[in-house]
Amino acid sequence: MRIIVLGSAAGGGYPQWNCNSEYCRLARNDSTRAFPRTQSSLAVTADGSRYLLLNCSPDLRQQLNQTEPLHPREGLRSSPVKAVVLTNGDVDHIAGLLTMRESEPFSIYASARVHRILTTNSIFNVLNPEYVRRHTIALSAPFRPEDAHGRPLGLEVEAFAVPGKVALFLEDASRGGDFGTEEGDTVGLHVRSPESGASFHYIPGCAGLTDSLRQRLDGSGLLFFDGTLFRDDEMITMGVGKKTGRRMGHISMNGEDGSLAAFRDLCIDRKIFIHINNTNPVLVENSPERKIVEQAGWTVSRDGQVIDL
Ligand code: MLT
Ligand code: MN
Repeated sequence: MRIIVLGSAAGGGYPQWNCNSEYCRLARNDSTRAFPRTQSSLAVTADGSRYLLLNCSPDLRQQLNQTEPLHPREGLRSSPVKAVVLTNGDVDHIAGLLTMRESEPFSIYASARVHRILTTNSIFNVLNPEYVRRHTIALSAPFRPEDAHGRPLGLEVEAFAVPGKVALFLEDASRGGDFGTEEGDTVGLHVRSPESGASFHYIPGCAGLTDSLRQRLDGSGLLFFDGTLFRDDEMITMGVGKKTGRRMGHISMNGEDGSLAAFRDLCIDRKIFIHINNTNPVLVENSPERKIVEQAGWTVSRDGQVIDL
């Protein structure tokens, strides 16, 4: 099984189009100290030719263009991308579907809650149902993703509920502190090759670790995990926003209630942060915060990174 990191940044990417912060200027002007990053997504293949996307970012077109294995190879119109699994309905994870609108067969797998976002936003009708098959996935029930013609891709995926928040554009303040969040709004994925037995977890959005989530992840060989913010209040202290990570539905790295502490006692061979916000100092090579996460046994993902399992 091969994993390609198509995008490692959170919503907005790095640098973000309207952000003139020190970190975003670094990404524009000094690529030795901070590498630009697109919005989070992975591509996974079991056979080296047919790919499953985990999330579909607004940067998909750029990601496909700069990833040679994902270029069309057969006939005049084709794509190695055969299916997509969505972990939530935020813009940074679904807007790339609009790039995939040119009558190309593929399958979309998502929870009922996330499918509802696609069916109730008529712009997604550009995905012609004659070509694009939509499958609703049940939580905690492994399934084998197929292309649009029903051919299995040689992978098994299990989606499981994780603490999170309903998509930003669906927040309903009248429904209380969780803004109307329901189970299935945010899921994590366990992706496995039934042939080799290799597997990994992908959780690009997570508000906190429950006991059952800790148990599920303990012993994982490889985890991609929500690295949105380093400090819960960093957007406020940097003066670029009004929200904490907690308010946005993301656990932050630092502090006693942060992800570095939450994973300290778990046995996970390889821990990689993904979905990293442009305010997070770990984006800067050699920053003190980068050293802290590395000393805690984590690495920070980069676009184009390839992992073979
Ligand atoms: C998030 O991860 O919190 C969202 O992607 C925010 C957004 O939609 O911009
Ligand atoms: Mn996001």
